Order: sequence, then C-alpha cells, then structure tokens
Amino acid sequence: MSKLALFGGEKAKKTEFGTGKRFGEEELQQLKEALEQNTLFYWSGTKVKEMNRKFAEMYGMGYSVATSSGTASIHVALGTVGVTAGDEVITSPITDMGTVIGILYQNAIPIFADLDPHTYNLDPKSVEEKITDKTKAILVVHLAGNPADMDAIMEIARKYNIKVVEDCAQSYMSYYKGKLVGTIGDVGCFSLNDFKHISAGDGGMVLVNDEETYVKAFRFADKNYNRFSKDPDATRRIDFLAPNYRMSELQGAVGIAQLDKLESICERRHAYGERISEGIKDLPGISIPKIEEGNKSSYWFYMFRINEEEAGVSRNEFSKALAAEGVPNQAGYIPACVYEYDMFKNKNAFDGTDAPWGSKYYGREIEYKTGLCPTAEEILSTAIRLVVNEFYTMEDADEVIQAIRKVANYYSSEKK
Ligand SMILES: Cc1ncc(COP(=O)(O)O)c(C=O)c1O
Repeated sequence: MSKLALFGGEKAKKTEFGTGKRFGEEELQQLKEALEQNTLFYWSGTKVKEMNRKFAEMYGMGYSVATSSGTASIHVALGTVGVTAGDEVITSPITDMGTVIGILYQNAIPIFADLDPHTYNLDPKSVEEKITDKTKAILVVHLAGNPADMDAIMEIARKYNIKVVEDCAQSYMSYYKGKLVGTIGDVGCFSLNDFKHISAGDGGMVLVNDEETYVKAFRFADKNYNRFSKDPDATRRIDFLAPNYRMSELQGAVGIAQLDKLESICERRHAYGERISEGIKDLPGISIPKIEEGNKSSYWFYMFRINEEEAGVSRNEFSKALAAEGVPNQAGYIPACVYEYDMFKNKNAFDGTDAPWGSKYYGREIEYKTGLCPTAEEILSTAIRLVVNEFYTMEDADEVIQAIRKVANYYSSEKK
C-alpha cells in the first residue's frame, strides 16, 4: 500500500486541475452592444428582454423575469405566490442564506424540514409533518445540482393546497424524471452570482408559466410598477410593497452569452460528478451522493459522506489526508444548519425586535435549536465536499478518484 502524502508519501494528484476562461469575445460583443444602446435600463434596452426570452425558451416555460440576484429571485417568487406576514414557508436547513432571506423580508416564518441522508434534499415525510394551517409554501432547494423528490412534494402541495417554489440556484439543467427542475413547481428561481454554473457577476432568474403569474412576478421585481399599462398614471398605482430587484442591461448582456454555454457547462459537470461516483462507490465507509433513478445532476459541487467507524478514520482526518494528496476539499459545507445560526436561535432578524416571530400576524411559539433536523446535522458533520468545475478533465476526475481510494483503503485496512 502506498504511503499517504500526509505522512510524506507521493501525492496521488500529480497534474494541475484544468482551468479555462469563463468569459470571452461573446460576452464582450454583447456588452458592447448593450453600451451602444445608450441606456442600461432593462425596460428601455433589449438585453434583459432577450435574456428573459432565451431563458424561458431553453426551459420550455412561458415567461422569465430577470432579477438582481438569486436571493432576489426567491423573494420575488415568494411575493408572487402570495407569501405574506405570519405565513409559514417550509424549506431546507442546508442551504445558502439567500433561500431564507426573502421569507423573512415578507415577515413570514421559515420552518425547516429534515433531509434525505443521501440526496441531501428535503425528505417529503418530514415536510408533511411540518405542515400547519399557516403553511403557505414549500421552498424546495435542489442542492448541488441534484433534483429533490418533486413528485412527492407536489403531491403534498396539492393535498394541502399550498404553493411550491423551486430554488435552483445550484441546479441549472438538472432533470427530475426527464423534467427540468425549475419547471415543476409554481415558480423556479436561479442565481447568476459568480460562483454558479453561469455568471453575470450577480443576477437571478424567475421562471413562470402563465401570464397572470408573470405579471405579478414582473411587478414584484420592479417596485410593483405596472409598466405594461398604456395609461402613464397607472404605472404608479401601488397597492402593496415590492422591492427593486431589476437586472441591468450589462448583466443581461453577459447573461445572454453565458446561456449559450450553459448546456455544455452542465454536461461537463454532470460527466465529472458521475465519474467520481463510479470510481468511489465501492469504498468501505464512503457513501456517494444519491441521484435518484431517472434524474440527472449538474453537480454544482460533489459531496460524499464518511461513516467514521467503517472507514476507520474521522471525517476531519480523511479530509486532511485527501488535501495532502493534492485534492482541495472541505470538511462539511455550511458551518451548521441554517436554523442554528445566531439570527435564528436568538430570533433576531430585524434588529432589536422579535419580528416576524413575535408579530400579531403569527401568534405562535416556535424554537430553532440544535437537534431540530437530526439527519441534516449528521450530513454536515460527516460530509466532505469537493469542488467541481467545467474545466476539470476526466484525467482530473481519475486522479481525484485515485486519491480518495488511496486514503480510504489506507485507513480501512489499517483498522483491520
Ligand atoms: C441554494 C441557494 N439559494 C440561493 C442562493 C442565493 O443566490 P445569490 O447569491 O445570487 O443571491 C444561493 C447562492 O449561493 C444558493 O446556493
């Protein structure tokens, strides 16, 4: 057995990871055209309109509304489906803050359901257990490119007459039983921040199918202005609060060029992730991320789990040994479940007040504390996260596999 790099042996990852340029002539040309319009305002220019048209077409949906971020797109979706003060929204505890920010800004209450131990997505059984007469929506996070169990979630939504918003910030071009995620619930949301499959620096997209929902989403992203009306006075007839989450023409321009690359980026990430799974699935003490039969992940990252007893090594030691082999990785993902963040534990969203939890529109006592979603907590304490990038090659994948195999075999045989 070869000596671990951690103990002075040779590294398993011998070559540099593949790299490449995300932005090129295509983006430059689009940006030039945007600037030549002499306006960067979406309603006057053509770029954001084109971005919306193209994105909706790629997804086979009626309409898209471009926004300023993924967080904004989720807030828009929640406002669009009618989430308001005192409503509960059920969501995932392993996610970015961007998932829950919009819930709180609507003065609604995030309720966290537990996850499946292997897909890291919402467990429909736990979702159903969390439903109350205050539940307005389920906000499904498709984590790391992997589709959540949408049939079961949609069935629950129909049974209790609640809305479904899909957070696809990490899941472009991911398929659930042949359907693109983001097209299954009432509204689909995407992010164009710089870490995502495609980037416009920042930005977001909202997907809807029917005109009425489209008009609501459009207005919610733009101060509730009614820009469709022929009567100029009607534009500012405002009947409820909505923020300004508009995308600028510069973001739209870059977004158009990035959309042309999206399918190929997702295909390469898919192939890379699948290759890693194939290469490590038989290892003792390791469980690979589960992509349910018939689904397709676009692997925003790759996260596997360690069973410390079977692997004969702690998760943290495994992570260190893997890093020493030349494979950058992270022990875990976010530092704790979102409900364990101070803001939730102390119910301090709007500083110095107990809103929205203490508002008269809610009138219930809930608690956010460690132990709320045991499986999610266990996932975070046993996971190892690898970077996936569309410029990584199959040789990179094979060397990463060799590194993981080397570390796993070393500790599991040492245990015997
Ligand atoms: C699952 C998820 N939801 C929402 C967001 C928020 O997106 P943005 O950073 O564009 O606001 C992110 C971004 O990291 C995310 O990963």
